[in-house]
Amino acid sequence: MKFTILIIDDEKNIREGLAADFEMDGYNVKVAENGKQGLEFISKGDIDLVITDLRMPGGVSGEDVLRHVTAETPGIPVIVLTGHGSIDAAVQAMHDGAYDFLTKPLNLEQLEMIVKRALQGRELSLQHQQLLKEVDSNHQVDEIIGKSAAMQKVITLVKKVADAKISVLVTGESGVGKEVVADALHKLSSRRNNSFIKVHCAALSETLLESELFGHEKGSFTGAESLHKGKFEQAHGGTIFLDEIGEINQTVQVKLLRVLQEKKFERVGGEQTLEVDVRVIAATNRNLEEEVKAGRFREDLYFRLNGIHIEVPPLRERKDDIPLLMNAFLEKYNAENNKNVKGFDSRARAAIYKYDWPGNIRELQHCVESSVVMASGDEITLDDLPPTVSHQSKSENIAIPVGISLDEAEKILIQQNLAANKGNKSKTADILGIGRKTLHRKLQEYGLENDDEETSQE
Ligand SMILES: Nc1ncnc2c1ncn2[C@@H]1O[C@H](COP(=O)(O)OP(=O)(O)OP(=O)(O)O)[C@@H](O)[C@H]1O
Ligand SMILES: [Mg+2]
Repeated sequence: MKFTILIIDDEKNIREGLAADFEMDGYNVKVAENGKQGLEFISKGDIDLVITDLRMPGGVSGEDVLRHVTAETPGIPVIVLTGHGSIDAAVQAMHDGAYDFLTKPLNLEQLEMIVKRALQGRELSLQHQQLLKEVDSNHQVDEIIGKSAAMQKVITLVKKVADAKISVLVTGESGVGKEVVADALHKLSSRRNNSFIKVHCAALSETLLESELFGHEKGSFTGAESLHKGKFEQAHGGTIFLDEIGEINQTVQVKLLRVLQEKKFERVGGEQTLEVDVRVIAATNRNLEEEVKAGRFREDLYFRLNGIHIEVPPLRERKDDIPLLMNAFLEKYNAENNKNVKGFDSRARAAIYKYDWPGNIRELQHCVESSVVMASGDEITLDDLPPTVSHQSKSENIAIPVGISLDEAEKILIQQNLAANKGNKSKTADILGIGRKTLHRKLQEYGLENDDEETSQE
């Protein structure tokens, strides 16, 4: 990287002497004879380091330059030069964020050292910024939507183990997002630019699965008309995702164990031993420990696969994630269906919260998709929801007698919703379409809140 140094000094011989020196060292150099000129260079944006005198004629001092840089372009180191006997000013400059200071007459060697060190730091920080940018744009973890404590734990774990070589076993009920987790693991690893191969182990017959994973030689079995490279070969340098790992038979289990232990295998019908570098992620909605106990799954293989265990919790245990997911899916299906549904009315929302979601996120996703298609107005109503979801709520009414005031009706409504949600105020506020603070205020107004509320369950 060729860095550009800006030298600001009103003394011509210092400015030009330093310029010549740093140019000889291979830097690009710009010179300015006062602070104002210096700021003009900085604002153009290609300066990596500033060396500035403090006292200069004209309206803009070295201190002004320093303050401008720390405020506007804080990554650029500023080295301050001070006249003899102005240590106070130098101390103040350090306080204001200068990288270092030197007193005149200058010790050139020392200045060169300081510049070199400062630019090494800058190079690292630029590389770091670049890395962060890449992580932000290409490898969004935000594909895993979830703000609940349970999902935050999953996301932290994913980030932590993504770049390790160790095998990861992802478990959880159907539709919880096991594949989403596997995708994130690959995308956040340094293997992200190499292949990510997915194998659905349950979808293939026993012999087919073996040749699918490990490949086969020409003529190794009837129908094997040409050499076929298996998924492990295809995944070399990258990641393989073995979905529904609980379904694989004993033969494949043995071969898989060997790949995990020795990174070696042979194609079906082949003699040659192949070696691969593949990161293995496996997923299952079975309880593998029980499969091991029942003798259907090799224990040694189970331990190999289960290097790190990521358990994705079912949606009913993290209902806090429902609003975020609902919104994300609403946006997606509005776009796909050319619609502009704004949201869900309160009864629809209540039904969605209440429902248990046995099919987890996938079921919620389908629910939002069909509701968007069904919705005829601005909002999705209870009638737009799939019957499985709306049914429960339709049969549950709150009785509000004729002849009572609006306030009394509101009190009943709040009380009963709160009870139906087991005292969870965030959820109740969401369902009622009001903020938590408003709910809190109303609870106090209606005398529904105890004194020890603050510590009660959320
Ligand atoms: N946290 C999440 N954020 C956004 N979308 C998600 C999330 N979890 C799951 N999904 C979506 O839900 C659907 C089901 O997820 P996925 O296929 O990963 O589930 P699974 O656990 O692998 O299910 P199965 O056991 O049936 O294979 C997918 O469309 C996925 O995009
Ligand atoms: Mg899956």
